[in-house]
Amino acid sequence: MELNERILAAVDYIKPHLSNTPDVALVLGSGLGGLAQSINEHTAIYYNDIPHFKAAGAPGHTGRLIFGELSGKQVVVMQGRLHAYEGHSAADIVFPLQVLNALGATTLIITNASGGINEAFDVGDIMLITDHINFTGMHPLTLSDGTAATDFCDMTYAYTPALQTRALEAAGKCEVKLHRGVYLGLRGPSFETPAEIRAFRVWGADAVGMSTVLEVIAASALRMNVCGLAMISNKAAGILDEPLLGEDVMKAAKIAAVQMEQLILTMLADGVQ
Ligand code: HPA
Repeated sequence: MELNERILAAVDYIKPHLSNTPDVALVLGSGLGGLAQSINEHTAIYYNDIPHFKAAGAPGHTGRLIFGELSGKQVVVMQGRLHAYEGHSAADIVFPLQVLNALGATTLIITNASGGINEAFDVGDIMLITDHINFTGMHPLTLSDGTAATDFCDMTYAYTPALQTRALEAAGKCEVKLHRGVYLGLRGPSFETPAEIRAFRVWGADAVGMSTVLEVIAASALRMNVCGLAMISNKAAGILDEPLLGEDVMKAAKIAAVQMEQLILTMLADGVQ
């Protein structure tokens, strides 16, 4: 089945459940899904029930869409996302986002948990993503027959400059420290070696993680406005003389979640849409 037909099938399933269509799509990373609880008069739809959606399986990812109002805006929260390290294709990873855009969402606020490469970053800090390096070796817009799904899509302003300004203003207002930096996305599921982290630092990366870049490429191709926020859940491999543990990501997410939520709520209240 063609991509457009699959998108329409999912839209046709979801639309009758909604009284309003969303303007803003929020993708919440590991341990950051709590914002969905603040949504008024919400409608929850499980990924499993939507045609062509794959279930999300990573720890801390529930796997449902939550539609409703947040800070006066019509939003949809993707609670749970697909990762390449679970064996999902790049096209499957971005499919939910393509559906949400077809439903009306023109803005994407995307969050993740990541390792801090920049030594000025502390655990629990938040970094506004100003640009990215796609080191997954994957691309969401490649078709299996060898043709690309879109024209050569521009990525110069992938992280919408006006939304970066809004995020920095919102951070000032709610007194959240917000770093700026470049996110490097790779496939995982192992964490990086210290040598890889040193190399990525030379490339100009400030944080590293296993998500976000594929979704942002797809969102750029759809000309969505994008704001990316990375929660620093740990210092990247080799910065401290200790091993990295998956459970530390969840612990740090709990600490940073409140600040991340405040920041997003303030951005929405200030008129991001
Ligand atoms: N590396 C890759 N992905 C991550 C990390 C990390 O250090 N922390 C959280 N996600």
